[in-house]
Amino acid sequence: MLKNYFTTKFGNAVHGDALDYLGEKVSDESVDLIMTSPPFGLVRKKDYGNADAHEYLEWFKPFAALFKRVLKANGSLVIDIGGAWVPGQATRSLYHFKLLIMLCEEFGFHLAQEFFWWNPSKLPTPAEWVNIRRIRVKDAVNCVWWLSRTPWPRADNRRILQPYSDSMLDLLKNGYKAKRRPSGHDISEKFSKDNGAAIPPNLIPIAHTESNSYYLRYCKEIGVTPHPARFPSELPEMFVRFLTDPGDKVIDPFGGSCITGEVCEKLGRKWTCVELFEDYLKGAKGRFLKPGKQVALFSKKPDKESDYYKVPRTGILWNGTVDPQLDPEGGRVRKKPTASHSNNTPVNSKFRVNKLGKKDARLLAAVRQNLTPDLLTSEWQKLIKPDDPPEKGHCYVASEAAYHLFGKGMGYEPYVRNFGLGVTHWWLRKPGSCEIIDPTFTQVEDEFDYDNGTRKAFRGPKDRPSKRATTLIERVRLDVKD
Ligand SMILES: C[S@@+](CC[C@H](N)C(=O)[O-])C[C@H]1O[C@@H](n2cnc3c(N)ncnc32)[C@H](O)[C@@H]1O
Repeated sequence: MLKNYFTTKFGNAVHGDALDYLGEKVSDESVDLIMTSPPFGLVRKKDYGNADAHEYLEWFKPFAALFKRVLKANGSLVIDIGGAWVPGQATRSLYHFKLLIMLCEEFGFHLAQEFFWWNPSKLPTPAEWVNIRRIRVKDAVNCVWWLSRTPWPRADNRRILQPYSDSMLDLLKNGYKAKRRPSGHDISEKFSKDNGAAIPPNLIPIAHTESNSYYLRYCKEIGVTPHPARFPSELPEMFVRFLTDPGDKVIDPFGGSCITGEVCEKLGRKWTCVELFEDYLKGAKGRFLKPGKQVALFSKKPDKESDYYKVPRTGILWNGTVDPQLDPEGGRVRKKPTASHSNNTPVNSKFRVNKLGKKDARLLAAVRQNLTPDLLTSEWQKLIKPDDPPEKGHCYVASEAAYHLFGKGMGYEPYVRNFGLGVTHWWLRKPGSCEIIDPTFTQVEDEFDYDNGTRKAFRGPKDRPSKRATTLIERVRLDVKD
């Protein structure tokens, strides 16, 4: 029996069997993304009952058929799946690889790409092989299969960029001599073009260390056990950003604590999570009761272990900005490049993308990540609509905060352009040069004429940030504190 358990602005949680839900309630080719973590074929069963590894494929087949039916042709199916050990033996089950092969060979899915979610804080298990006999190492990755119905699912990696490595920053600064590498690869001059940020690899480092979240506290408060196998929010967030546009439909058929729903709610995607066990939904409800910020603010600063391996933390550059629409053709045809989604400023024919140092770039990213409606003037608060991009109306306060945090020290000054009817755009510029910092550049056109601005001091006391900018600066300092 299916029961609509709760409804939010963008989605709903359904109590019942996902087979019934997909079979009865979801029409053909209506879903843009299925983002899910099914029960794993674990050797040691969890509370909610997993099928044994060898039964797993049979169990999965009816879901696979329904996933195929409900997905749009350019939609994606993303499955986070953990590995398993063969019982009593120090070798690995092949069940998750068999699942992948079955989905492709029997159900006609395409493997768009395999990802590996690396959890640096995973404990060393199974103890017998890893800690006692010392014959195996820590099992710290989950496989994440990104599958699609056609070879051309909608996707845009500019939604999920990450900061350049130190060596790449060095190369961009000092230049690169185009030459053939020992491997035979020809590295052209294009390699040293600064695109603002780097394309991430298919290794997703996210330490899963949730211990004091609102969700956990809510579960404690209402006396339910938190879900024992949650994935971290950054994982669904990465694929939701990468593979869908606002307003698209996302389903998590094995919804658990509805973290996929929470991510979608914050990113403005329509969603449904289906879950068999009511207790998990009781706790999940709490995710939508908390006083939410308008922006997805999942990105945290790198934790020590991922620093150690020098893999930038997933989400470090996600800033709630509005991205261009995904290509419905999924990249089948090569298109003209669009403006770079750099963390600094847009590429403009005349004005240079400012090259900020690592620390200042982090401060700027944090300014953008902390823009919430309470920082707006009361007039703007009245004008803003729930679906507006988070930086709308924030150019003044964001520029003012960036100015006091690092811009002033680097010789930048506030500039403004007046469009009439009280509409202005503020940014920072080094007077007499083409270097600019525009924290809310997504509010202007790619070829915005930064030359056409007037140098003007921020309103309020000279050399001191306004009350709203002070609030923003305090948030940024808290975020960036090492
Ligand atoms: C690995 S957990 C998902 C956890 C979730 N990603 C989270 O972070 O909270 C898998 C969930 O699928 C649920 N489940 C198993 N079979 C199901 C079915 N046929 N229909 C709906 N939910 C099901 C289980 O109860 C379990 O909560």
